[in-house]
Amino acid sequence: MIEDFDVGSDWHVAAPYEFLARLRREAPVFWSEHLGAYVLTRHADVRAAYGDPRRFSSRGSLTISRSLTGETKEKLGEHGSFLSSFVANVDPPDHTRLRRSVSRAFTPRAVAALEQEFRRLNEDLLDRLIPRGRADFVADIGHEPSIKLTARFIGVPEADEAFVQSHVKDWFQLFLSPQPPDRQLELADSFLTYLDYVDRLVAERAKQPRDDFTSLMTSLIGDELTHREVVELISTILLGGNDTVPNQLGTTVLRLLREGCWPVPTARIANACEECMRIDGSALGSFRYAATDVTLHGVTIPAGSLVLLSIDSAAHDESVFPDPERFVIDRPNAAEHMVFGYGIHFCVGAALGRLQLRTALEVLGRRLPGLRLAPGRTAAYRKSIVGRGLTSLPVEW
Ligand code: HEM
Repeated sequence: MIEDFDVGSDWHVAAPYEFLARLRREAPVFWSEHLGAYVLTRHADVRAAYGDPRRFSSRGSLTISRSLTGETKEKLGEHGSFLSSFVANVDPPDHTRLRRSVSRAFTPRAVAALEQEFRRLNEDLLDRLIPRGRADFVADIGHEPSIKLTARFIGVPEADEAFVQSHVKDWFQLFLSPQPPDRQLELADSFLTYLDYVDRLVAERAKQPRDDFTSLMTSLIGDELTHREVVELISTILLGGNDTVPNQLGTTVLRLLREGCWPVPTARIANACEECMRIDGSALGSFRYAATDVTLHGVTIPAGSLVLLSIDSAAHDESVFPDPERFVIDRPNAAEHMVFGYGIHFCVGAALGRLQLRTALEVLGRRLPGLRLAPGRTAAYRKSIVGRGLTSLPVEW
């Protein structure tokens, strides 16, 4: 009898690898009672499922709003199914159309233009922090530059950044992790306030466009996009930028410090980032629904079942990455991880994410060459089904 996933336990995010290795070996299509989903754990299977959107549908897969109570749904009204038209949550042909629109904002030139700004945001932060000699990497260093960069990219005025940040956290909790009923109502209030804000931002940019994501997407309303799609895109891009990159940076720095690889020489930074994403990825998996009965390794996944594609397990698959639990800073095929997904939903922000990770390691390594873990204090992980992130990482220099 194989144990099950357990989102509430500490090992689930921090150290699931023995468990996942056993699943890859003995139950590559695993029914998890705890998740209410089938779980694919082998690299080849995860990749094939990502690459087969006809059989593994994204429609409705992102939200777990099914755990919302009747009262919360009533409060949310038409927004109860928020995310239902978000690009990651739909199949072709809607996906093809939405993806085309979003991609216009992520051209290589637009992404490269953000590098200087991101570098400056990191330098500014360090100018303020360095005299202190110590910090919590998560609270004090990891998030601020990415949050500010994303806000500028979207077009959120500097004065509203803190407001947006606190509300984004709330809606993330409401839709993506199960909450007790009272908390749901509080979060729903916060979410509605936030949607009002995004609505107003869209209206302002419709009147007076600027050089930002909101203006670009707003200009497509009517032709390519609906108003609701634009609001959902803005909301979720804020989340993508605010959360995933800082989470990945936190686990990356922890890994490099533990392995004695700090600071990373400039020429090795790009591959070090890939190996850190592989071994401590901030995306643990993606959900899909089986669109038909799918039989794999002798198990039939009935049509309509929820399926988790385990990115985390695929990145530790010994058939692709020899000695997978070992950190190898110049592992030749480290980039074969699927931390940014794969196929038609491959992360539209991947280049921006990579740019931020590399730039942050370069600036931090140069300004804080003596960075080390604070003795006697441990890093803590937050609990989640699909994302890996630290809640605290005490460091000094
Ligand atoms: C290290 C950082 C990041 C990680 C690990 C990450 C991870 C992922 C993953 C795994 C997917 C695929 C989801 C699926 O197939 O169900 C995805 C899609 C997406 N990501 Fe990211 N992401 C990161 C950064 C970003 C950034 C910076 C942005 C935007 C500013 C972004 C925006 C998006 C969007 C819009 C999609 C949906 C694409 C589609 O469905 O076609 N991500 N991301």
